[in-house]
Amino acid sequence: MVRMSARAIVGMQFGDEGKGKIVDYLASASDMVVRFQGGSNAGHTVVVNGKTYKFHLVPSGVLHGKISVIATGVVLDPAVLVEEMEHLEQNGYDTSVIRVSRRAYLVLPYHREMDAWEEGLKGDVKVGTTRRGIGPAYEDRAARIALRVHDLESEEKLRRKLRLALRFRRACMGVEFGEEEILEQLKEQFERFRDLLCDSEILVNRAIDSGREVLFEGAQGTFLDVDHGTYPFVTSSSTIAGGACTGAGVPPWKVCQVLGVAKAYTTRVGEGPLPTEIEGGEAERLRERGGEFGATTGRPRRVGWLDLPLLRYAALVNGVKEIALTKVDVLAGRSTIPVATAYRVGGREVLYPPPDLEGVEPVYVEMEGWSESEVEDCLSGEIPEPIKEYVALVEKATSARVTIISLGKDREKTVVL
Ligand code: IMP
Repeated sequence: MVRMSARAIVGMQFGDEGKGKIVDYLASASDMVVRFQGGSNAGHTVVVNGKTYKFHLVPSGVLHGKISVIATGVVLDPAVLVEEMEHLEQNGYDTSVIRVSRRAYLVLPYHREMDAWEEGLKGDVKVGTTRRGIGPAYEDRAARIALRVHDLESEEKLRRKLRLALRFRRACMGVEFGEEEILEQLKEQFERFRDLLCDSEILVNRAIDSGREVLFEGAQGTFLDVDHGTYPFVTSSSTIAGGACTGAGVPPWKVCQVLGVAKAYTTRVGEGPLPTEIEGGEAERLRERGGEFGATTGRPRRVGWLDLPLLRYAALVNGVKEIALTKVDVLAGRSTIPVATAYRVGGREVLYPPPDLEGVEPVYVEMEGWSESEVEDCLSGEIPEPIKEYVALVEKATSARVTIISLGKDREKTVVL
């Protein structure tokens, strides 16, 4: 019997948990890396030999020369794909390993304008989107007027479908978008990636069936999931492990392992509740130390302490059995570190987040802190007691094992337990 080995890597918080680094770390021992949802709203930062690469669309596996699949559940902005391919090529990377699903949906220039327009309508319930047109592209998908990558293969089909989509936009926004201009841009961009098209469902399933190591690279995080996140302050796709099945077209039983990535504290970019949020000088120090500025938009991230009710829920809905705990070094230098173990809601203590996080009160414990030199000890394989206790607290809350501790941006700053 062929040993199957497909693993989903998902964010357990609000994105920016450091998935890019973990995927990059695991990609070297894999054969294929698959993006299954989201689009160029993602911002995966990977540091190789001191050089920083920021990916929005292309799976991070490309840095290891692994087959890097943009699967059907992704909304693909052709302009971003071409830009990232050029950037990679200029840095000596082989982009012929990229594969693009014929069934993936296109993000078109008007989606970005629509994103800004919709945010404008929302007033004080703005989501604070990345303005990459992600929500509107998924709206077109649900409305069954979206263009898919395979439409680019026929000019006649492309024109017909674009005309329909633009008719909807005109009716809804009262704006006329230039059909010819969009068409010409798309044709030109398509020439750059025409040779990379694939039927990703067949490609990915065959790879799993033949025993190849496949990584599903989640983007954003559990609490930005359209169903399980802090709705309406979410993105428009399924960011949880189940999204790998729908987005890549693989059955649930083939995704054998789920690794959750959790930062040692919590951050969020954009609007919406963040129960353990801190402000003022303490927040600024954490933000500076952790470089907590959005990889896609450059916005300062909101910061807060580790929130175990969120991790508990994320472990549950994703089926997380292993955790990579990241940015443990950023917390160094504090005598104690607060961690939320539960919430107080209407006078009761609860262990899981309620559907609306507005007004929940975190219940904290103070954990012993660690020093910079203890971070160094950790890197040489000697895990200091306070870090062990922090890890044990996370493991107890999630019933999962922390198998990776990340203590810095570089590949080398990683400890496998
Ligand atoms: P959208 O995905 O651009 O529609 O934005 C929806 C929400 O998700 C906003 O709060 C964004 O800031 C957030 N978001 C989207 N992508 C990411 C990401 O990769 N990391 C962190 N937050 C994200």
